[in-house]
Amino acid sequence: MTIQTVATQPFAGQRPGTSGLRKKVTEFQRPGYLENFVQAIFDTLGDCAGQTLVVGGDGRFHNRAAIQTILRMAAAHGFARVLVGQGGILSTPALSCVVRKRGAMGGIVLSASHNPGGPDGDFGIKYNIANGGPAPEKITEAIYAHTQTITAYRISDASSLDLDALGEQRLEHTVIKVIDSVADYAELMAGLFDFAAIRALFARGFTMRFDGMHAVSGPYAKAILEGLLGAPAGTVINGVSLEDFGGGHPDPNPVNAAELIALMAAPDAPDFGAASDGDGDRNMIVGRGIDVTPSDSLAILAANAAVAPGYRAGIKGVARSMPTSTAADRVARELGVPCFETPTGWKFFGNLLDAGLVTLCGEESYGTGSTHIREKDGLWAVLFWLNLLAVSGKSVAQIVQEHWARFGRNYYSRHDYEAVDGAAAHGLMAQLREQLAQLAGATLGQFTVALADDFAYTDPVDHSVSTQQGVRIVMSDGSRIVLRLSGTGTEGATIRLYLEKYEADPARHAIPTQQALAGLIAIAGELTQIAARTGRAAPTVIT
Ligand code: G1P
Ligand code: ZN
Repeated sequence: MTIQTVATQPFAGQRPGTSGLRKKVTEFQRPGYLENFVQAIFDTLGDCAGQTLVVGGDGRFHNRAAIQTILRMAAAHGFARVLVGQGGILSTPALSCVVRKRGAMGGIVLSASHNPGGPDGDFGIKYNIANGGPAPEKITEAIYAHTQTITAYRISDASSLDLDALGEQRLEHTVIKVIDSVADYAELMAGLFDFAAIRALFARGFTMRFDGMHAVSGPYAKAILEGLLGAPAGTVINGVSLEDFGGGHPDPNPVNAAELIALMAAPDAPDFGAASDGDGDRNMIVGRGIDVTPSDSLAILAANAAVAPGYRAGIKGVARSMPTSTAADRVARELGVPCFETPTGWKFFGNLLDAGLVTLCGEESYGTGSTHIREKDGLWAVLFWLNLLAVSGKSVAQIVQEHWARFGRNYYSRHDYEAVDGAAAHGLMAQLREQLAQLAGATLGQFTVALADDFAYTDPVDHSVSTQQGVRIVMSDGSRIVLRLSGTGTEGATIRLYLEKYEADPARHAIPTQQALAGLIAIAGELTQIAARTGRAAPTVIT
């Protein structure tokens, strides 16, 4: 075994996006492509001697090969220990948990989240810092800068390691420890939620389906729901992780998890349904005949946090991404705690959580989380709901409707125009930005514009400023139209149009969502000329 220095050249486009570097598998298979990026991470970190690194991924195609490369490079950079999930598997929340619990310097997550997998699918790599959360922009920009000047990478020429047998192996001077993928995470969950109450709920005959979407959550859900909590076998469906996610799109929304939605709409539906995404950090919550928007789910958990032992002391504050509905703001106001509005992307919650300013946070994109780790956490949200259902004895529909009756309903939808021409998408945003100055005070249909701007955020902790985080048009009644371009897509550009309408009157809480939002949808269409500019008569996905 020796450490080699291999000459290399920069690849263009290795700038991490909303959530790490995501590209086609075929791009990552180019000689040196992964190695350059990993070298850039290690160059940014500086001295790694004596440190612990955690490595794991969502099990998608190329996961194992990438991990072997990363382990050989970590050994060449003198890490004392690398903890790697068994079979190369760690869900994104589990990795965050292990980094924090084991006092690691950081972790490398291999995932493209909800993007399809397989040889022709997507792959991704992301660095998480010692708090267990995604590296802040300062670090991702430094990594990117290194990728642009790189001339060589260092790697051990040792042969492949066994990733399946638990225990320690040596690579150069580095100890590689294969750890149980679920154990640390399951222990954390058992400390946060009332497992006895949830066990009793299942023992009373409560029925549930958790859709693992053939992604990383299956084994976690089986171990916790069917194992520790005694849910009947078969509660977890599509629970076997597959390298191509069974050809599906492992993004838990009503479109991709149509099988679960159909099941939950049937007269003999289970009491509770849930799904998680490729790497286990997203969640979708469904009741019998009702799907809960992620924005509502955040607000409902905030309003009921005290049911869970881990949150009994109350919550310090809530944070939501700007496009997420303002339902959580109303709860925070009533609780007398602050609600922070951040740009899209989980990394913006890290400082708020670290500083103890917030306890819960969430995004409209099926992401919810808390101080327990520094990633969003799919199964955590599901367990939180189970805890609430067990303690309250109410159905999902009852909980949601009572919440609306108390706080009002924020009708909410996101319209995605995927893989549109990049120039057309940027043109649309540019012309919208040009209109902003004239929009304030304007009358649009039944609405009056109260505020029209391009969202900018000053982090209250480190005072860093992020500009151009999405155009928002806020109406005087609190209704909103928001537009931004995706930072995670790998093909062309994706335009996201977010729509929100507030309705206080309980007599008007049962309108179909798209109907309730029709006025705003028409206004957005006129302002942006989205159909003409994209050549699309309708969005690709509506959630
Ligand atoms: C999307 C979501 C965003 C989430 C991110 C990573 O980013 O919109 O909320 O944090 O995936 O899961 P986008 O593609 O919109 O940049
Ligand atoms: Zn994800």
